[in-house]
Amino acid sequence: MNYEIEIDKLVKQYKNGVRALDDLSMKVNSGEIFSLLGPNGAGKSSLINILTTFYKPTSGNITMLGKDLCKEPAWIRTQIACVAQRVSIDEHLSLMENMLFQSRLYKVDPQVAKERINSLIDSFELSGYLKYPTASYSGGVKRRLDIAMNMVSMPKILFLDEPTVGMDVDSRRAMWKMLLKIRDEYGTTIFLTTHYLEEADQLSDTICIMKNGKELAQGALSNLRGYIRQNMLRIAFSSAEKTIKYKDTLNSIGFIKFTNVRDNSVFVGVDDSRTAFTSVNKWLLDHDVEFDAIEIVEPSLEDVFLALTGSGKNRGEE
Ligand SMILES: Nc1ncnc2c1ncn2[C@@H]1O[C@H](COP(=O)(O)OP(=O)(O)O)[C@@H](O)[C@H]1O
Ligand SMILES: [Mg+2]
Repeated sequence: MNYEIEIDKLVKQYKNGVRALDDLSMKVNSGEIFSLLGPNGAGKSSLINILTTFYKPTSGNITMLGKDLCKEPAWIRTQIACVAQRVSIDEHLSLMENMLFQSRLYKVDPQVAKERINSLIDSFELSGYLKYPTASYSGGVKRRLDIAMNMVSMPKILFLDEPTVGMDVDSRRAMWKMLLKIRDEYGTTIFLTTHYLEEADQLSDTICIMKNGKELAQGALSNLRGYIRQNMLRIAFSSAEKTIKYKDTLNSIGFIKFTNVRDNSVFVGVDDSRTAFTSVNKWLLDHDVEFDAIEIVEPSLEDVFLALTGSGKNRGEE
């Protein structure tokens, strides 16, 4: 099978000795949304900077669109686009001028460019802003224009480094909608980094969890769930106070491995969810605990992430 990006044993060591990427390997499929999920300092930006040809790797191999990235960086640059964290539109130019400027930069045939720009303005609902100066746009609209500009060259792969960092919930959802549209309408492969679990969860076809320059797990969310053999039960309570109160009590039961609180529910990790279901149920009734519901649940991305990155050991104390 041919992958859009294939990274093999990549190492990046900076001059100061920091090894930001440490034997990293991963594979990205064509036309998918691929999320690189990791805490701050994991090495996400280092990897994006290498993939977009800004930095050179220390060692390892990268094949992108069938070519060796280190041997053909100039060609690769014509095939990809990268959305920077800071919006890159020129506020002295109009929306249309910004788009045209970008098309000339990428040497897109003027007739083709005209049609493409109109279709992008349409797709991303920007036509209502054409007559206003770009400097007057809200942050969200600037961001939309920025991404539309990056699509003028019809890149095969669109890279985004933490595209929604610092955004409010509405802008973040609008951004997700836009990225899904790019995948579905233009078939673009999207490679993004994030430290938001919800973002990776909502958006991605494939998630790669990384920490300390190494990949910990890669796959669709359904596959990642297999990484925790831990089964889980959810016990719902009628109030936040009750949830907190019973979390510690539940934690002290011998066969419960850990507890975690979310949304008026205590999530407990057990070895075998079926036997535990019966035992916990009986225990709750024996101890006159008033609970609303008890059920067997699949681990969430958060559970997988915490288990893999090792931040989950003290979940009972959170
Ligand atoms: N230009 C650089 N020179 C030296 N060290 C760097 C440089 N860029 C990043 N680092 C270090 O590499 C590690 C990974 O950083 P980075 O790739 O920015 O992670 P992330 O984007 O996941 O937060 C960190 O320890 C960071 O301090
Ligand atoms: Mg970063």
